[in-house]
Amino acid sequence: MSNIVIVGTQWGDEGKGKIVDLLAEFADIVVRFQGGNNAGHTMVVDGEQFISHLVPSGILQGKMCLLGNGMVVDPEVLLKELDNLNNRGIDVGPDRLKISEKAHIIMPYHKHIDMARENMKGDQKIGTTGRGIGPCYEDKATRRGVRFVDLLDPKEFDEKIKTILEEKNFYLEHYFSAEKLDPAGIIDQYKGYADRLSPHIINISIVMNKAIKENKQILFEGAQGTHLDIDHGTYPFVTSSNTVSGNACCGAGIGPKEITGVVGIVKAYTTRVGSGPFPTELFDEIGDKIQKKGAEFGATTGRKRRCGWLDTVLLRNAARLNGLTGLVITKLDVLDGLEDLKICTGYEYNGKIIRDFPASLKILGSCKPIYEVLPGWPEDISKIRNMEDLPENARHYLNRIEELTETPIDIISVGPGREETILINNPFNLK
Ligand code: GDP
Ligand code: IMO
Ligand code: MG
Repeated sequence: MSNIVIVGTQWGDEGKGKIVDLLAEFADIVVRFQGGNNAGHTMVVDGEQFISHLVPSGILQGKMCLLGNGMVVDPEVLLKELDNLNNRGIDVGPDRLKISEKAHIIMPYHKHIDMARENMKGDQKIGTTGRGIGPCYEDKATRRGVRFVDLLDPKEFDEKIKTILEEKNFYLEHYFSAEKLDPAGIIDQYKGYADRLSPHIINISIVMNKAIKENKQILFEGAQGTHLDIDHGTYPFVTSSNTVSGNACCGAGIGPKEITGVVGIVKAYTTRVGSGPFPTELFDEIGDKIQKKGAEFGATTGRKRRCGWLDTVLLRNAARLNGLTGLVITKLDVLDGLEDLKICTGYEYNGKIIRDFPASLKILGSCKPIYEVLPGWPEDISKIRNMEDLPENARHYLNRIEELTETPIDIISVGPGREETILINNPFNLK
């Protein structure tokens, strides 16, 4: 039996949603283990697009979907998502969708603080999604967070909110000159959420470990990407959770020996939303072309994504940090028609060559990419379903990625649709 973790290798939006939806066919359970509705995961099935921010991308395959304890969940957004799925005829009842009782809840003050901080920072802003993610994880770490288990005990919930709001209101009023929040209004609003969500709240670690004993297969769906990881990313221009594969265990409640494979999703070029260094960023017409052809707009905030060449310094870092057993290359079709393609193999810094991703943003910001130039292909590859049918130059590009990352490619994606895929090796089939 196999249990597979899927992670983004770059700065998010690599196409995780499409691949999780595709591989969910072979899983019994799909679980999100970190992040919140800062994520936007797109699935396209029979020409119909679904964007999921909180619900795991296994929901369209009819699988049991779990929201892990490592997540921060905005109940208002979750309920909207559930209503939307329900209206589209997809079962999201308590047997299908379960929320960890230990997952943290995004409260209105988290969103206010996130946005107020960003406004105050001006040019120095992180470019967060404004969804309250950072402030919610901050409260988790400082032990004044609110968890789903608290929703099940209304009396305790009321007291907790009143106590927390004393401090939050002081901060909002005196630091940001913002309006104070009314505890009664929040308590009332969240009681409504509790009424609807209570049947879904459960100990998901027990659910998963029982499933493992019954030889069922689990797919762990990472959000964001390795270089947005709070420890390993381009700090402070990162999100507030661990996005790497190691956190799948902690954020869902299983032991590491259960994980049998880790698949890294790689966009065939690089994109980034928000601020922070990006060595291979393009500021010319090729960057514009990729942005337009790839429809590179954020699925959560609608912001234009910054685009650049593929960076294998980034990918080698991701391969090591996640223990990748395989890669999925997405959006290869977006590169159709480009005369030459560049792959970054290292950085030049102060006359020296760097091959490992630096921790210092000052150094990273001054790094110049060293490129290898490969010939492109003029053909439209979106209809191709076999590796052998790809143009020779496309195969050469893929081989070079495998060589430079020392990781085999399992799947190639040539379009947003579930079927627009070339399957080389199914990660659920143990090698
Ligand atoms: P995620 O956050 O990693 O799930 O990725 P997003 O959904 O935010 O962004 C990926 C975008 O690329 C979505 O609009 C997908 O529908 C689209 N997409 C995924 N794979 C492919 C592909 O192989 N080719 C093309 N052209 N689009 C793709
Ligand atoms: P998916 O799962 C791309 C970025 C934000 C910002 C930084 C911090 O769709 O790949 P946050 O709101 O998390 O505090 O913002 O992280 N970011 C993402 N970028 N894809 C995502 O998710 C992201 N989630 C957060 O743009 O730069
Ligand atoms: Mg996304």
